[in-house]
Amino acid sequence: MQNYAEHSVFKDENRLSIECVPQNLPHREKELGLLDLFFKSILDRPGGMSQRVFICGGIGVGKTVISKLFGAHIETRAQRKGINLRYVHVNCRVNKSLFTVLQRVVDALNIPFPSRGYSDEELLHSLMKYFNDQNIYLILALDELESLIREEGSEPLYIASQDFKRSASMSLRESR
Ligand SMILES: Nc1ncnc2c1ncn2[C@@H]1O[C@H](COP(=O)(O)OP(=O)(O)O)[C@@H](O)[C@H]1O
Ligand SMILES: [Mg+2]
Repeated sequence: MQNYAEHSVFKDENRLSIECVPQNLPHREKELGLLDLFFKSILDRPGGMSQRVFICGGIGVGKTVISKLFGAHIETRAQRKGINLRYVHVNCRVNKSLFTVLQRVVDALNIPFPSRGYSDEELLHSLMKYFNDQNIYLILALDELESLIREEGSEPLYIASQDFKRSASMSLRESR
């Protein structure tokens, strides 16, 4: 008798995971192009003006997935140009304080910092210094940002974004 447990009806079950980021996002070429444009200066003149982009839109329109796909693309392009640019995606519904957000950055990049003994401002400044010393550029995606604001108000954002010179926003609607 055939053992059905060994045969899956799916070619790749990983694609069902909420974490899965497809290689292509049909109908989002224009928006990906816009993100490229917003962040173009990082690749052309790393260390120049920093950029902040807001992506807004309803649940399920693809905000998370487009950010992650863009992050993977820009990391690859930066690498080809010899720029050490890293994209870190943090979900603020899970990480509701500036401190835990920064800790996720430390974890994601394997930065050798002690896990205790810092205030959030100290951790932020140590991270900035580390990035400067190591010549690392960071794109930090704060997904579900409203959770962080609800928990801590807008002060952490103010602290974390003092150096930002330019802002842009992009609104996603259903793509079909
Ligand atoms: N253009 C697209 N093509 C294929 N799948 C998409 C597209 N946009 C979104 N998805 C999928 O739809 C689901 C919801 O997208 P998500 O990025 O989580 O939405 P949001 O963050 O806006 O709530 C995810 O499984 C995602 O992979
Ligand atoms: Mg999302």
